[in-house]
Amino acid sequence: MKSGILHIIFILAAMSSMTFRTASGQDLPRFKVLEMDTNGTLYLHKTSILCKREIAERLTEGKYQLAEPNNLGLSKDFAVLTCKTLKQKVPSADSGVYWIDPDGGSHGNAFQAYCDQQTEGGGWTLVWSYTFTDYSNFQKASNAVTPRPSWTTSNANVRVSTTVPFSETHYEAMDFSLWLSIGKEFLIKSNINNWIACKEGSGSLVQQRDGTVSCKLVKQLSGQCSGVVPNRVKSSSAEKTLLSRNHYYYFEGNRSEGWPTHDPCGNNQANQLKARPYITSTTSTSAVSRQSIRNNLMLRVLPSAFGFQARQCLTIGQDAPRFKVLEMDSNGTLYLHKTSILCIGEVIKRLTEGKYQLAEPSNLGLSKEFAMLNCKDLKQKVPSADSGVYWIDPDGGSHGNAFQAYCDQQTGGGGWTLVYSYTFTDYSSFTSSGNAVTPRPSWSASSANVRVSTTVPLSETHYEAMNFALWRSIGKEFLIKSNINNWIACKEGSGSIVQQKQGSIACKLVRQVSDQCPGIVPKSVQLDNNGMYLSSSSFYYYFDGNTGDDWPTHDPCGKDQENNLKGVLNPHGNIFIR
Ligand SMILES: *[C@@H]1O[C@H](CO)[C@@H](O)[C@H](O)[C@H]1NC(C)=O
Ligand SMILES: *[C@@H]1O[C@H](CO)[C@@H](O)[C@H](O)[C@H]1NC(C)=O
Ligand SMILES: *[C@@H]1O[C@H](CO)[C@@H](O)[C@H](O)[C@H]1NC(C)=O
Repeated sequence: MKSGILHIIFILAAMSSMTFRTASGQDLPRFKVLEMDTNGTLYLHKTSILCKREIAERLTEGKYQLAEPNNLGLSKDFAVLTCKTLKQKVPSADSGVYWIDPDGGSHGNAFQAYCDQQTEGGGWTLVWSYTFTDYSNFQKASNAVTPRPSWTTSNANVRVSTTVPFSETHYEAMDFSLWLSIGKEFLIKSNINNWIACKEGSGSLVQQRDGTVSCKLVKQLSGQCSGVVPNRVKSSSAEKTLLSRNHYYYFEGNRSEGWPTHDPCGNNQANQLKARPYITSTTSTSAVSRQSIRNNLMLRVLPSAFGFQARQCLTIGQDAPRFKVLEMDSNGTLYLHKTSILCIGEVIKRLTEGKYQLAEPSNLGLSKEFAMLNCKDLKQKVPSADSGVYWIDPDGGSHGNAFQAYCDQQTGGGGWTLVYSYTFTDYSSFTSSGNAVTPRPSWSASSANVRVSTTVPLSETHYEAMNFALWRSIGKEFLIKSNINNWIACKEGSGSIVQQKQGSIACKLVRQVSDQCPGIVPKSVQLDNNGMYLSSSSFYYYFDGNTGDDWPTHDPCGKDQENNLKGVLNPHGNIFIR
């Protein structure tokens, strides 16, 4: 149950003064029914439209419509099977991160995934986002796709991912064993090759079976070879290939042999696009591709006599249809869930006899309409919410400009909004001048030359940065986490990260990641043309964004030495604001 005692008291007081409804009804407190739990607790929203009496009236007089619940996919409890299920049940849903549960049943193992609801009819679940190890030397043996999915292959040596990708630039892959449970149709999008949508023939990507596939062109990106699509899946020792006459898409995962063909002519030539539309810096190495799998399972359909059945149910009984009230819109349409607990008669009884409790709505942060200011706001209103992707709207007001962001609700009291996830350009030669953090936020750093990001990072390994201008609207405290240096949480003093101001900060250690120098924390923010740094006696965290100068110190001793952890897989760091 959501807490917020003060809020509950406020609503109860308001409700008790709300016995009668005037003709206009304008000056009465109005409530929006959000949900009813197993004990008959009604969750009402204080900015609601209808007063209690009006709800009861509409229910008894049948002046309502029954409709699909509109929070499908927005919480673990209301996970959908796949993005295709979501598309069928909520055709208007935007592309974004939703909760899915491909094996159905209890939603204990549901997880968040990205849905493309626009391209080629929508309903596509993103299962893999990849980039290249050496895009600028495309035909060299050093070039390969990265990471690769956990499919079977003997010769690949790039990183294997089993992390669900949250966006098209979040380079991860869903556990391959789950792909088949999502569907068999697949969509491949890339910014260097044509987009195609394919159905299985004798060949199958999700079942790793060589043979024919039937593909159609979704977008012709290249000026060359218009209308050519691949027609076969073929395995090689290094990865799967989608063949036309010759390689068209080759998911080659060995960085010491072969190269990952992306040829719109299907001739195994370097005909991939050379322009890189998502890339702003000359030093960036990534081009973007993504692959989605479409669910084609049959779906259960809601009973057509939904409304009729609802009105028939006047007593509680095991065999009576039961409904869960989810929401009521501005026209008094009630959204009910079919696996509900209470029948309509009981809902009316509880409303009229006052046998209910009022509580906070439980879908805060789960849709654009119920965006929170930031993760701290969410933590205060829904203390039990897990870490994950939520809707936030730092400037408040109308939620037209709300967006999804990642919240850490556990570390150091929670309530942290992720604003920056970075990795390194040359981790293995950490102190070489070629090493820098990448990407960098849009803060001022006149000498930095790594890619600037203004894409909101949706996980700790989604290497992007929220527009720097928004950071200060979220808060002033910051948390830095890294897998190669200690975690620290800091309050502003005379210095500030979000204001880019040099001066003191008050930090505490959140986690000692290193064996060295226990308890040392930085004491100040310092400015540099390559990027800001935090200093103890010397550099502790240095966000050096220049690949021709300096190196990005991550020294738990704060002495500007190479004391960062070595040999770590996926080395990275994150800045959160609260
Ligand atoms: C319903 O009431 C029972 C008994 O008071 C309680 O144990 C349970 O947690 C309640 N369930 C919910 C969802 O509040
Ligand atoms: C990658 O290719 C090289 C060169 O052919 C080969 O020596 C190596 O064994 C391959 N890597 C793996 C993991 O098979
Ligand atoms: C409410 O009704 C009006 C007029 O029929 C309609 O234009 C509007 O879309 C409806 N709003 C909702 C949320 O269904």
